Amino acid sequence: MISERLKTIASLVSQNDTVVDVGCDHGYLAIYLKKNNICKDVISSDINQNALNNAINNFKKYKLDIKTYLSDGFSNIESYYDTGVIAGVGAQTIMDIIKSEKTPNKLILASNNDLYKLRCYLNKIGYKIREEKVVYDNKHYYIVMLCIKGIQKLTKKELLFGISNNKKYYNYLINKNKEILKKNIPLLKKIQLKYYNYLLKGLTEKK
Ligand SMILES: C[S@@+](CC[C@H](N)C(=O)[O-])C[C@H]1O[C@@H](n2cnc3c(N)ncnc32)[C@H](O)[C@@H]1O
Repeated sequence: MISERLKTIASLVSQNDTVVDVGCDHGYLAIYLKKNNICKDVISSDINQNALNNAINNFKKYKLDIKTYLSDGFSNIESYYDTGVIAGVGAQTIMDIIKSEKTPNKLILASNNDLYKLRCYLNKIGYKIREEKVVYDNKHYYIVMLCIKGIQKLTKKELLFGISNNKKYYNYLINKNKEILKKNIPLLKKIQLKYYNYLLKGLTEKK
């Protein structure tokens, strides 16, 4: 039932932590965490009542006692938590959510887009990206980030391509850029993509 992407998110959860899955939708992550005793406790929340109902029904089906909150980001969550998971949404939604003072020390993030913008923002507001895992799931590459409060200054290259050091993923990006370069695109974009590919090649070379 659970996707490789959600399994990868679960692999970054620590055993002693209480996790809140923000934007839980179906609640599959919480079910997996709870059933496999991966962490101390788990809470689920969503901004949308229908989505939250899906989770509540699934928890009932599996006879799992998981607290749920109807909440925009962390705003209405009253229980204690020390890790926040935000996955399956765009970078802008993640950035809007983590602006809150209620954002915990540890975040596990899987954005659907704009990873460069998200990494810049994390560093700006005082989160270090400790680890990035790349997962290929359902014909897509997903990046899952483990972030902890703290100061970090990533290089331009790290901001652009992350810290996963996953050569297969970097090669995928090169090939994707090559395909875009074949199309009729503005000169500035062409120059940018060629520069990205030059940087990416450096990352795929054996050291
Ligand atoms: C595509 S689903 C992702 C479900 C799950 N997290 C996953 O990764 O498979 C996105 C969910 O995020 C919820 N969502 C979007 N913005 C939110 C916000 N500001 N606060 C809480 N939930 C939000 C949506 O209602 C939706 O249920």
